[in-house]
Amino acid sequence: MTQTKIYTSKLYNAFNVPEKIEYIQEKIPSNNLNRIYCKSSKDMSELPDNSVNLMITSPPYNVGKEYDDDLTIDEYRNLLFNVFNETYNKLATGGRACINIANIGRKPYVPLHSMIIDIMLEIGFFMRGEIIWDKSASAGGSCAWGSWMSASNPVLRDVHEYILVFCKDSFSKKKVEYKKDTISRDDFLEWTKSIWTFPAVSAKRVGHPAPFPIELPHRLINLYSYEDDVVLDPFCGSGTTCLAAVKNNRNFVGYDVVEDYVELANKRIADFIL
Ligand SMILES: C[S@@+](CC[C@H](N)C(=O)[O-])C[C@H]1O[C@@H](n2cnc3c(N)ncnc32)[C@H](O)[C@@H]1O
Repeated sequence: MTQTKIYTSKLYNAFNVPEKIEYIQEKIPSNNLNRIYCKSSKDMSELPDNSVNLMITSPPYNVGKEYDDDLTIDEYRNLLFNVFNETYNKLATGGRACINIANIGRKPYVPLHSMIIDIMLEIGFFMRGEIIWDKSASAGGSCAWGSWMSASNPVLRDVHEYILVFCKDSFSKKKVEYKKDTISRDDFLEWTKSIWTFPAVSAKRVGHPAPFPIELPHRLINLYSYEDDVVLDPFCGSGTTCLAAVKNNRNFVGYDVVEDYVELANKRIADFIL
């Protein structure tokens, strides 16, 4: 089936793609920009609506990490709904939202990525694709394979995570003359493929229980934003997204509820700037 036929098929009637878009892009007061707020991102009233260009985040997994609250599945779903709904309000037209998530458990396996896709579609985001992050290069010698060489109960050992990609209202960003792209030809060819391969990072080395490697926001920032754009991480932990934003000449805003992580994030950024 050709691409055009896909878009005129009945299946696509379910997706209300607006034909004409009015681009809205508000400005964040400079005092509120390039800051990490120590509070819940359920409320991001420091930012005007329609002001953020790109969100990159990895949410809490609610599986007993030191910052997790042991929420029920409904409470957890509500937290993610509220934060991503607030993110939707803050994104400018054509803004992108990229969510890194791994699935958890085996008995049974809990597909958090599927729950997040449902939440994002319910909020009104359009999905643009999913990247499989192949982190096998850093996978330890896990032998949690269940029944050894037996069909009795073999268990899959995940060597991947997801990066789910969404956008608000428009598939394209408005090309403003003074906004500069920063991706190279070779990186564009490589990073528009849906499988990315790079190792995970050591939690101990970063000083946070679940950081992602800086390569992850570095790629997303260069692929999905212009120089000087505003990058938001509503669950920013050790500040990896914010640091990648600074390194790539973007503005950032972060939120985290744990004071120690906000301090750590500010220190990582200050160490780079100095
Ligand atoms: C998976 S970690 C993010 C790690 C980050 N990507 C990094 O590289 O360090 C999730 C973070 O969400 C924070 N968090 C949990 N609930 C929150 C909330 N309601 N608002 C803001 N941050 C929250 C936790 O403290 C934790 O640091």
